[in-house]
Amino acid sequence: MVQQKIIVTGGAGYIGSHTTVALQNAGYRVVILDNLSNSDKDSMDGIVRITGVRPEFEHIDCTDRTAMHRIFERHRDAIGVIHFAALKAVGESVEKPLLYYRNNLGGLMNVLDMMTEFKIPYLVFSSSATVYGVPDKLPVTEDTPLQPATSPYGQTKVMGENIIADTVVANSGLSATLLRYFNPIGAHPSGEIGERPNGVPNNLMPYICQAAAGVRECLCVFGDDYDTPDGFCIRDYIDINDLANAHVAAMRHLQSGATGVNVFNLGTGCGQSVMQLIRAFEKATGVTIPHKITSRRAGDVPAIYANACRAEQILGWRAVVPLHETLASAWRWQQKITKSK
Ligand code: NAD
Ligand code: UFG
Repeated sequence: MVQQKIIVTGGAGYIGSHTTVALQNAGYRVVILDNLSNSDKDSMDGIVRITGVRPEFEHIDCTDRTAMHRIFERHRDAIGVIHFAALKAVGESVEKPLLYYRNNLGGLMNVLDMMTEFKIPYLVFSSSATVYGVPDKLPVTEDTPLQPATSPYGQTKVMGENIIADTVVANSGLSATLLRYFNPIGAHPSGEIGERPNGVPNNLMPYICQAAAGVRECLCVFGDDYDTPDGFCIRDYIDINDLANAHVAAMRHLQSGATGVNVFNLGTGCGQSVMQLIRAFEKATGVTIPHKITSRRAGDVPAIYANACRAEQILGWRAVVPLHETLASAWRWQQKITKSK
């Protein structure tokens, strides 16, 4: 049987590499497009060790229209694109907004242009729970009104969703699915791929892992005076492998005839506070996390978690990996990268 080809932009990165594994395991042929600005080719070797298959790799910047045209012409037999390629550091986006608009929206517009020109029908886009801002009601459903984004990064997700919706209206041959991720954590259970933050991590999970490994002295917990049951911020932490599988389900849903723009929350439906996550990590790994309470971080949403029922009803997907397994996989990966440094 001829394998169907999927273009995965940003496929060398954290979510893209796990999704490539899931796609290859599901029988798709993957071509990764990445400029390696926040990743390296080691992730490709990890994918090979897990699946036995090396995805095709194109070293390319999605904002380079001429190069994108050349690559899409070469892969015009692709049936779909999963577009991960973006910059994602919220703080950096405040300092360098134009970099974020140019990279995240310029890249997306080239992808949409190429899909239109080469008649590639299915797009899956990495959106984010950040589009809900500070929600009035929890859990958030896909119909919860979007709030003004609190950072240029968040704006690129809101604007990206709108750009895709407008393009789908204008191009009847294109259908798209927007996946709003909550907080992806963990690594592949094999320990072959995982998250590799550059410098000091901004996100909680890699910071916990580095504090556990002694790479960081102490985790700062940002605020204990929120209006939540224990005073700490609440998030919906979703296993990276569950998240990856949702992309396969989303692609199959498009292939089965879904039209227009489809939107899905990808979360577990369960909120965990920062302190609950620290305690769960300690229990899952037996390692104590040195931490101290500091002041709130500007821009943090007090609490957000998903209603992910629509994904279950329509995609037949739900998060299944228990939190303790996710935390153990994150720790296994951290130990491996600490050793290899
Ligand atoms: P990542 O940085 O690990 O992966 C992104 C990949 O895209 C990297 O390999 C990077 O080199 C590449 N890239 C960036 N700009 C590019 C460009 N112009 N051309 C080609 N390649 C480019 O990040 P991730 O965590 O895997 O995130 C993937 C997507 O999911 C992003 O769109 C991100 O905004 C979104 N997202 C992530 C999270 C999260 O917590 N990780 C949450 C919500 C949404
Ligand atoms: N936190 C700490 N200490 C740290 C890091 C984080 O206490 O060192 C706390 C934060 O205050 C927050 C929680 O841990 O309460 C989670 O913070 P993260 O930075 O890990 O995640 P966010 O929910 O703030 O944001 C993440 C991504 C965004 C994305 C959003 C929704 O960074 O890009 O999830 O998907 F938009």
